[in-house]
Amino acid sequence: MSNPLRVGLIGAGRIAHSHMTAYLDHPDRVQLVAVCDIVEPAAQAYAKEAAVDVVYTDYEKMLREVDLDAVDICSSHDQHWPQTLAAAAAGKHALVEKSMAHNLPACREMLEAADNAGVTLMVAQNQRYTVETAAVKRFIDEGNLGDIQAVRTHAIMAAVPINPRGHWMNDGNAGGGVLLTNTIHHVDLLRYYIGNVKRVTGICKSVQPEMVNGAEDLVAATLEFENGAVGDVFGSWTTSLVPEGQYYMVVGSKGTLHSTPPTRGRPGVGHFGTTMYALKSPVEAGQRRGPRAEFQPLPVEDAGLPTENGVVNEILHFEECCRTGAEPISGGRDNLETMKVIAGIQESSRTGRAIDLDTL
Ligand SMILES: NC(=O)c1ccc[n+]([C@@H]2O[C@H](COP(=O)([O-])OP(=O)(O)OC[C@H]3O[C@@H](n4cnc5c(N)ncnc54)[C@H](O)[C@@H]3O)[C@@H](O)[C@H]2O)c1
Repeated sequence: MSNPLRVGLIGAGRIAHSHMTAYLDHPDRVQLVAVCDIVEPAAQAYAKEAAVDVVYTDYEKMLREVDLDAVDICSSHDQHWPQTLAAAAAGKHALVEKSMAHNLPACREMLEAADNAGVTLMVAQNQRYTVETAAVKRFIDEGNLGDIQAVRTHAIMAAVPINPRGHWMNDGNAGGGVLLTNTIHHVDLLRYYIGNVKRVTGICKSVQPEMVNGAEDLVAATLEFENGAVGDVFGSWTTSLVPEGQYYMVVGSKGTLHSTPPTRGRPGVGHFGTTMYALKSPVEAGQRRGPRAEFQPLPVEDAGLPTENGVVNEILHFEECCRTGAEPISGGRDNLETMKVIAGIQESSRTGRAIDLDTL
C-alpha cells in the first residue's frame, strides 16, 4: 500500500501551477492535502484545480491544524525564510522554490533550523532535474570536456509585460530583481556542473522605473571557480527586444558545449533547448591543429530520471529524500553556496571590490 508524502502548498501563484502536475500525476508518491495563499480566491482556485478540499490563508494555522509531512513553498523570496522556519519548528520537511531566500543570513538561519529539527530542506532548482542537465552533468563528470577552463551564461528577459508595476519580483524589499529571480538559475547550474565559486566581481544597475527599492534589472559579473575556471555572467530583466533568451557555454581543455534557445511546448519549466557539443580532433603528425570539429547534439537518452518534466522530477526527488533521509541534489546546504555567489555580486557592486566568498 502506498504511503505518499502529505504536502501543504504555500503560495498558489504561477510556479505552483507547474508543481501541480507532480501532485496530479504521482498521488502514490506525493499527496497535496492543503493549499494556502494570502489571497483566498487564488488558494480556492488552485485547490479546486488540484482536487484539494482544505484551504487556508494563514500558513501557521495550516501547520497547526493539518497532518502534514512537508510544505511546498512557492511564495515570494522574502517569505521563504519565515515559512521555512515555521515548517521546521513544526517538524515538517520543506521544499522551497528558488531563490532559497532574499539574503544570506536568512538562508543560514533556515539551514540551521532544518538541521536542528532533523527535517529535509531542499531548494527547487528545477533546472538541475531536466534530462538535458542530467546528460550534460554526466558528460562533464566523465571527463569528456577535459579540465573546465571557462563558462559563460546570459539570461535576457522581457519581464515587464509578465510582471506588472508593483509586482514583488521588481521590488528589492521582497527579494525581487534579476539576480535572485533569474540569474540564480544559471549560476546554480554552472555550480552544479563545475563546483563552487571562489571569488566574484559584479556591477548591478536598476535602470527601468518599475524596479523599486534597489531591485536590479541589469547585472554583469565575473566568477572565479575553485577549480580555476573563469566565468562570465550577464543578466537583464527588462530588455524588450531579446535575440536569444537564456544561454550557457562550458569550455574545457578537450571540448566545448553550449545550449540552444528554449524549445517551446516542452513539459515543465524548460529554459534551454538542445545541448550542442564539439570535441577537439586529434592532431596528426606534422599538423599544427586537428580538423575543425563540428558541433552536434548531445544525446539525452537514459538520463535515469522518472519523467521528462524537470519540475516533476524535482518534486519526486524531494519525496525520496524526505523518505530516505538522503541529502537532496539541491539541498539547503548546497544552495547556500549559490546564494553566496549572488550575495558576492551584490556586495562587489556596492563596494567596487572583488569579493572572496569565504568572507561572506
Ligand atoms: N523554477 C522556476 O523556473 C520558477 C519560475 C517562476 C517562479 N519561480 C519561483 O517561485 C516563487 C514564486 O514565484 P511566482 O512566479 O509563482 O510568484 P507569484 O507572485 O505568481 O505567486 C506567489 C504567490 O504567493 C502568495 N503569497 C505571498 N506571500 C504569502 C504568504 N505569506 N502566505 C501564503 N501565500 C503567500 C501570493 O499571494 C502569490 O499567489 C519564487 O520563489 C520564484 O522565484 C521559479
